[in-house]
Amino acid sequence: MKTVTLSTLQAQKRAGETFSCLTAYDTTFAHAASDAGIEVLLVGDSLGMVLQGHTSTLPVTLDDIRYHTQCVARGKGNSLLMVDLPFMSNATTERLLQDAGELMRAGAEMIKVEGEAWMAEGIRELTRRGVPVCAHLGLTPQTVHQLGGYKVQGRDADQASRILEDARTLVDAGASVILLECVPASLGRAVTEALDVPVIGIGAGPDTDGQILVMHDILGVTRGRSPRFVKNFMAEAEDIPDAFRRYHDAVKTRRFPAEEHCF
Ligand code: KIV
Repeated sequence: MKTVTLSTLQAQKRAGETFSCLTAYDTTFAHAASDAGIEVLLVGDSLGMVLQGHTSTLPVTLDDIRYHTQCVARGKGNSLLMVDLPFMSNATTERLLQDAGELMRAGAEMIKVEGEAWMAEGIRELTRRGVPVCAHLGLTPQTVHQLGGYKVQGRDADQASRILEDARTLVDAGASVILLECVPASLGRAVTEALDVPVIGIGAGPDTDGQILVMHDILGVTRGRSPRFVKNFMAEAEDIPDAFRRYHDAVKTRRFPAEEHCF
């Protein structure tokens, strides 16, 4: 695989080619995912749940994310490295810039932020300073307590048009990528068609430009009930690298997500 940059993802969107994304938290798994052809690796704050055993992503600190970013950066190969800003990094624009700067210095190539239209100012300031931003909309796990749980978002027409409008506002502010989590497939399609920037989905249907899942979920090792949008690619794989290749291939050929994974 050639080095993946933001331009690669933009070209793939224009060509109607999907791309695969996966969370990664350490060097060895980052190497394996990159070798499998996975275009984007995300150091997600999901590490709070799958590595640290918390019940949400809220306890994850900037130091935690910085440490795992440094680990993944050493194994990312030619994949693009996206990194999550932790809870409350968006409390003020000053803190946002400071924290994003720390993560870029640690090896991030794109910063992911949760937040709705009100994040426009922060996104404008980041992009002005050369930091590519992915804006995460729909189910935003850092607001789980306000949302009342990990629930599908945008089911009714008003909510759906608000998410679409927020996406437009954040792209106008400079967001280079939108990530949509847990929304009906019809909304995933509408947002993808409405925007010129790549849209990554997780539980957002088959029509987004890219797909992302949490690594532990595709390896079938997550405890408890898996969300509907998850598929265990280890079930039929020979080994972990093979599971990564199967995931990548299923995304590229649009065999994943299937109807049973969508809302
Ligand atoms: O933290 C994470 O892993 C994420 C993905 C679920 C998109 O934000």
